[in-house]
Amino acid sequence: MKKVTAFIGTPRKKHTYEAVRELLDRLEALGDVECEMVHLTDYRIEMCRGCKLCFEKGEEYCPLKDDRDAVIEKIMASDGVVFASPNYSFQVSAVLKAFLDRLGFMCHRPRFHGRAFTSVIVQGFHGGGKIVRYLNFLGMCLGFDVVKGTCATALEPMTEKEQRKRDKAISTQSRKFYEALSRPSDHAPSMLMLMGFRMGRQSVKYTLDESARDFQYYSEKGWLDSDYFYPTRLGVLKRSVGALADAYYGRKYIKRGPG
Ligand SMILES: Cc1cc2nc3c(=O)[nH]c(=O)nc-3n(C[C@H](O)[C@H](O)[C@H](O)COP(=O)(O)O)c2cc1C
Repeated sequence: MKKVTAFIGTPRKKHTYEAVRELLDRLEALGDVECEMVHLTDYRIEMCRGCKLCFEKGEEYCPLKDDRDAVIEKIMASDGVVFASPNYSFQVSAVLKAFLDRLGFMCHRPRFHGRAFTSVIVQGFHGGGKIVRYLNFLGMCLGFDVVKGTCATALEPMTEKEQRKRDKAISTQSRKFYEALSRPSDHAPSMLMLMGFRMGRQSVKYTLDESARDFQYYSEKGWLDSDYFYPTRLGVLKRSVGALADAYYGRKYIKRGPG
């Protein structure tokens, strides 16, 4: 049984909620999937103060004592994760953004490997596509296996045409997400994820030293010398591209030096 948790950036049970419900119902219908919806507004998520202690010393040094880690635990306990939000002023809602900012340290020390990720954005008229692209990218940085998100348009009342369009997009998204959930845990990464790993690793290796939290994290995980974040078999092409990326970024970061 696979566990999927959707984190929703609004307390309203309207269009965003309904779009997520549609996605989760379809996933459950595909079989062996158990879903949960979590409203982020039910958790206390404070706004990042920008002290950077999480980057420099570690996330446990964050001065904010709230529910950040409880939400992270829920993600860690999931095989698949959905971030969902209405489009507010061309971005995710404030509560989702507050949570994403609090995950900033994880762009340095990604942790969500082996978990599928997708997003649902619901807009009134415009701008949701860019938010979906932002979440696709952020999901990759956090280590997720990303399935491109969906943007639905829902002016009130939602027309039948809008509803059909939303359902069609969510039906495709649910099948792709289900495939991602069913992948073996050692599946080969995409070329983009592989390149991202090699770039990040060379940067950590050549611009930091043992005193840096990111260096210690990469070292503990064995990432300073591994092929990828997790054990996997790379084909000839990916091995060659990986070696080229190591050489290119290695030179770049050696030249840049520490700091
Ligand atoms: C504060 C606020 C800002 C909004 N900004 C945008 C926007 O920039 N672009 C857009 O297309 N819709 C915008 N909308 C409309 C919502 O995205 C749309 O009504 C959506 O369906 C709301 O989701 P909900 O039904 O789950 O609450 C905004 C709505 C609110 C309340």
